[in-house]
Amino acid sequence: MDFTTERMLHGGDYNPEQWLDRPDLLEKDLEMLQEAGCNTVTLGVFSWAVLEPEEGAFSFGWLEEIMDRLYERGIWVILATPSGARPRWLADRYPEVLRMDEARRRDLFGGRHNHCFTSPVYREKVRRINTELAKRLGRHPSVILWHISNEYGGECHCPLCQEAFRNWLRKRYGSIEELNRRWCTTFWSHTYQSFDQIESPSSRGERMLHGLNLDWKRFVTYQTTDFMKAEITALREAGSALPVTANFMYYFKGLDYFKMARELDVVSWDTYPLWEKKAPIEIAYDNGMCHDLMRSLKKKPFLQMESCPSSTNWQGVSKLKRPGVLFAQSMQAVAHGGDGALYFQIRQSRGASEKFHGAVIDHYGGNDTRVFREVCRTGEALEKLGELCASQVKSQAAILYDWESQWAMEDSQGPRNDGLHYQEAVLKFYRAFRKRGLNVDLADQDSSLEGYRILAVPMCYQFREGFAQKVRRFTQQGGILVMTYWSGIADETDRCYLGGVPHGLMDVLGIRSAEIDGLYDWEENQLIPEEKNELGITRSFRCKYLCDLVELRGAKSVMAYGKDFYQGTPALTVNRYGKGSAWYVAADGEEAFYEELIRLLLKKEKIKGAVPGEIPEGLEVTTREKEGTVYYIYQNFGREPARLPLPEGKVFAVYGEAEELLEPYGLAILKQTTE
Ligand code: GLA
Ligand code: ZN
Repeated sequence: MDFTTERMLHGGDYNPEQWLDRPDLLEKDLEMLQEAGCNTVTLGVFSWAVLEPEEGAFSFGWLEEIMDRLYERGIWVILATPSGARPRWLADRYPEVLRMDEARRRDLFGGRHNHCFTSPVYREKVRRINTELAKRLGRHPSVILWHISNEYGGECHCPLCQEAFRNWLRKRYGSIEELNRRWCTTFWSHTYQSFDQIESPSSRGERMLHGLNLDWKRFVTYQTTDFMKAEITALREAGSALPVTANFMYYFKGLDYFKMARELDVVSWDTYPLWEKKAPIEIAYDNGMCHDLMRSLKKKPFLQMESCPSSTNWQGVSKLKRPGVLFAQSMQAVAHGGDGALYFQIRQSRGASEKFHGAVIDHYGGNDTRVFREVCRTGEALEKLGELCASQVKSQAAILYDWESQWAMEDSQGPRNDGLHYQEAVLKFYRAFRKRGLNVDLADQDSSLEGYRILAVPMCYQFREGFAQKVRRFTQQGGILVMTYWSGIADETDRCYLGGVPHGLMDVLGIRSAEIDGLYDWEENQLIPEEKNELGITRSFRCKYLCDLVELRGAKSVMAYGKDFYQGTPALTVNRYGKGSAWYVAADGEEAFYEELIRLLLKKEKIKGAVPGEIPEGLEVTTREKEGTVYYIYQNFGREPARLPLPEGKVFAVYGEAEELLEPYGLAILKQTTE
């Protein structure tokens, strides 16, 4: 089911349950929400203890009253199921709901997000509260969306979870012999005689069977998703047909979001970038790539569910957001295909662990604060952007970003246990595409590659069944493939491929990866262009971390290593395959290398960005499309005012002006009709 509104959402997490003894402040909240142009709040995320103070005794009146008052003022509600933190009575009466850690120690009550996803008791209690919530408040006219739990994450190693894991394995492998074969258990005599002997990975037990470790991670995604599905089913059975979301986290490794997203109507995520840690454009690329990942999970508009209006209080150093940054960060979500920008939180809590976390309304409580004013300005701008709602970001470029492959690679004990720098490798490609003005999707091995002209595959260590064929087809039909070192090494249970790698693609790439050299952090090699090479590349670049030694099997060498015993052997190669071409990057080049590679490749293949010409340093250009209209969205994350590179043809301004210089942290949106 699609989730669309006609206004960009603006608002955030609101916790009135912390203020029920202060009706004066609740009244003030409403006034200030309106003043700030907030049209949406998320309610109930951590309200369970107030909604069900004792087992089976429910109290919804207070929430309904608040929802009535929000509705009167035109403010929508995203209603949360409260499973992210359970009440004390529940843990005391049913200790099985508490998690067990990997050393098999049961947690005490406390914190949040720490319940067992298998426990039938926990599932039943969640079903009950979700049912009550849906029946009593699910039809309230203010509610537009369900927010399922909060930031799912973590794992439980209790006996119930062990049994569920074993059953999951039984289904997956059918027989213990097959499991032994796939996990290579003969190694160190770790052979299992029956499924009952299997235990989840533990520092006190088995951690060396990579097949086990990988399947455990898969199981954690499976079980968490199953729990989430049960939460959604409870709402549906109680008669609610509203769309559902769950809030995801920044490059969170613990759960395969591509899989979880299938069960949701809309993806949302919580972003807390460290804006002052690097040049703003560097942070913008990093945050922008995560937006693009979230959008790519369903190839649909997403929501920025949380972000901090000023400074957080859980990061090492809590920097204030400099003037303009809150505005720019909120607009970046819209630029990358989000339909709104929401904050954590509306009113700053008074005590406990988040009392110093930034909020729209701080402890002082007035509307005459710097932060409040910037929230107002952001609200005003978002109000003008309603016509962009539901417009899509279409991309010619995709980068492979695969959870399972990353899990396997980082666990694999290989050429560099001191860091493979996967995330950085992905980001280097991303930055290179963005600097040429291309929109970028992130895809995993199960995603369709249809419609992309260029596909970057950095360090895809694991090739699952069918992936090599998919990439082959993509290239054959005219796609440009850019694959890097450490790809196609192992299968889906982390067994190494025999007979040469990258598995199944040696003929497509025209090479065989023969050996791979790990470099110390302080070591470097060089990438030196071959004379009269295919790409017209003339500069040399540095490379680090990993150097793959390839043997040519039909491909041409474009660059070669500059030193060591492999000096002169190929480091960048190209092979024509079908209607397309396949490039192989053998070593981890510096950023400038990826930029030059992508610049020349796009030029060679006549792949054009959104606007002609150079994109000024620090500028982000993204396009969204809807019903014959293309929106060109410009944001300046540079330090200097920037001139906008305009598309060809007539443009109309939606926000800002086409001919004016764009100030740092500024936004300009132009549109063009294509029909
Ligand atoms: C997460 C949580 C919120 C809050 C914020 C603080 O994103 O979902 O409840 O704790 O962090 O930054
Ligand atoms: Zn458990």
